[in-house]
Amino acid sequence: MESIWTKTCSIPKREQLQKDKKTEVVVIGAGMAGILIAYQLQKAGKKVIVLEANRIASGQTKNTTAKITSQHNLKYAALISSQGEDKARQYAMANEAAIEEYRRIITEEKIPCDFQETAAFVYGQDKPKLIAEAEAGGSLGISASFQSHAKAPFGISPALRFDGQAQFHPLKFIKHLAEQLEIYEKTPVQTVDAHTLHTPKAKVSAEHIVFATHYPFVNFPGLYFARMHQERSYVLALEDAPLADGMFIGDEENNYSFRIYDKYLLFGGAGHRTGDNREGGRYDALRQKAMELFPNAKEAAHWSAQDCMPVDGIPYIGQYASGKPDWYVATGFQKWGMTTSMVSALLIRDMICGKENPYAAVFDPQRFSMEAAEGIACEMKEATKTLAKRFFKLPEATEKELPAGHGGVVEVDGEKIGVYKEEDGTIHMVNIRCPHLGCQLEWNPDEKSWDCPCHGSRFDFRGHIINNPAQEGISLNKERPLP
Ligand code: FES
Repeated sequence: MESIWTKTCSIPKREQLQKDKKTEVVVIGAGMAGILIAYQLQKAGKKVIVLEANRIASGQTKNTTAKITSQHNLKYAALISSQGEDKARQYAMANEAAIEEYRRIITEEKIPCDFQETAAFVYGQDKPKLIAEAEAGGSLGISASFQSHAKAPFGISPALRFDGQAQFHPLKFIKHLAEQLEIYEKTPVQTVDAHTLHTPKAKVSAEHIVFATHYPFVNFPGLYFARMHQERSYVLALEDAPLADGMFIGDEENNYSFRIYDKYLLFGGAGHRTGDNREGGRYDALRQKAMELFPNAKEAAHWSAQDCMPVDGIPYIGQYASGKPDWYVATGFQKWGMTTSMVSALLIRDMICGKENPYAAVFDPQRFSMEAAEGIACEMKEATKTLAKRFFKLPEATEKELPAGHGGVVEVDGEKIGVYKEEDGTIHMVNIRCPHLGCQLEWNPDEKSWDCPCHGSRFDFRGHIINNPAQEGISLNKERPLP
């Protein structure tokens, strides 16, 4: 399951941090947000170190569809109504400025990253809704219009159109910026004191600490676990499919996404809350739809992505928590990680450099609204449900009943544990209690992983961590042949 990006670009490895360091700013996470934040701060004259638990761009950055757009599905009419026109304009202009900043950096640095200017469309059948969104976008300063006959890859459809948008190859871009930065790989941050970060072999002291870790792993303060969940979505790279002129995404009822890269049509969809694996077969569902729409297409690659979904639909970018003036966070990017990473970089650079940023208020992580309060209540309900499940749900099968090639919660020696049975008969056992905050993990048959429905941590069938906020694995170190 390698994305088209990792198949076509590799980034040189970096050393693990071995010696204690002192710096002005430390950025945790070398994905798109972390690299851009570090780049902007270094350009502003700050001494910056980046610490990455795995490899540069090895998290969600390698799995994005890499659309650089201020069009975040049908966003702006709802934003005006929930946040008011001023904040909606801040959101819109911050994202437009982010597109412009990509354009500027790529031109000035001469980065060969297949950057291409193009329009972005939301297609659907609800014309009044699309028209209302075009009017909302236009009123906020975006070049937005309604088209009754837009040419989507699958045929003609009514659509909302945003001009001045772009797409690129994210790894070719990040590779170029990373070359300029001091980055340590395989250096997970285990604990953070006020201004000191502890890693397996050394510690870093910094005046400012930026958490660009996809999902923040420090639970208290911040309480991000009560304010976000994660969602998964899937992508196929198709050869011999129509090559669309522009980027497309469906409105809520028909949420497929399309863009081209080289000779491939990237076809995405089948999204769901992480851990909600009742149906399974997500790739198959997407393949079936692809066959229906493009019968002559051939699959060249498939992969999946995971996104943090904030309760009020607005990312958290700014001060980590009220009692932590020197900690910063960039998270909750929903499905729009490219522009939001750049918004984070510009905003956090300005905060650390003591400059006012005109778009800061709408992204302020300390904001509170009734909409957010309702979202928090929903998240808490979901977490309570899955915590209770761990105690009351019966095992799905016995160890012997579980067929080869399958995983599930079984009872072994009177204990509920997670088991995956390989085709060759090897059994892998894991703890089904999520090490983050204790929810019961769910087996994901599509990706042979254990996923947490509460906040989206994921683990492979051996128990190694794939996605945070958990910081440790769930392996029971029990592996044995089929009895
Ligand atoms: Fe929070 Fe599992 S990710 S409990």
